[in-house]
Amino acid sequence: MKGLFITLEGGDGAGKSTQIRNIESFFTERGFVVVHTREPGGTPIGEKLREILLDKNNKEMDPVAEMLIYAASRAQHVAEVIRPAIEEGKVVICDRFTDSSIAYQGYGRGLGDMVSEVNARATGGLEPDITFWLDIDPETGKERAKQVGEPDRLELEKMDFHYRFYEGYKAMAMEHPGRIKRIDASMTPDEMKDAIYAHLERLCAKDQ
Ligand code: TMP
Repeated sequence: MKGLFITLEGGDGAGKSTQIRNIESFFTERGFVVVHTREPGGTPIGEKLREILLDKNNKEMDPVAEMLIYAASRAQHVAEVIRPAIEEGKVVICDRFTDSSIAYQGYGRGLGDMVSEVNARATGGLEPDITFWLDIDPETGKERAKQVGEPDRLELEKMDFHYRFYEGYKAMAMEHPGRIKRIDASMTPDEMKDAIYAHLERLCAKDQ
């Protein structure tokens, strides 16, 4: 049996980690083997690339170089972890995937269509079965993220960058309503969990 590929997206401070744990419980309680992973990263090579990408000292990083490093991490991740797990019938839950590159590098950095073209090569065309976009407005997200820890190189970008990638997520959610489910991140964590579980129940019913 083929497994499932689920991704979570959104700006910082949206509460992705809590909802990833909830999704993990949803599937383990139903007897599935779950692989929880993240991008950039998820493999030894990817984790090294993550360090380069998020290092605050790498101020001179060129936008195209940045986009290609995210894509390199993703190519390794798909080949080494994601595709094999799906083929073994596991449920893969990934914290960010191609939509992040389209939002942050495509819309945020203004690289446009090049990002989806490169990523189609990096992923071999692999797309999530379902994506939860935790929708938080950039100002609130920034405030919440501040309380969690030190900002990384991308979080340190000016607010207009945050608004641009936010617009990117909105546009993608409109473009792919079947795959991308918007979850209002101004709800409580339990309300968000209920909304996500309702989508997952439907997805599992469809899969049988
Ligand atoms: P994280 O803190 O959610 O793990 O994500 C790391 C940062 O990298 C976050 O600021 C979003 C950014 N990012 C991109 O710009 N492009 C990408 O393709 C991915 C996966 C993340």
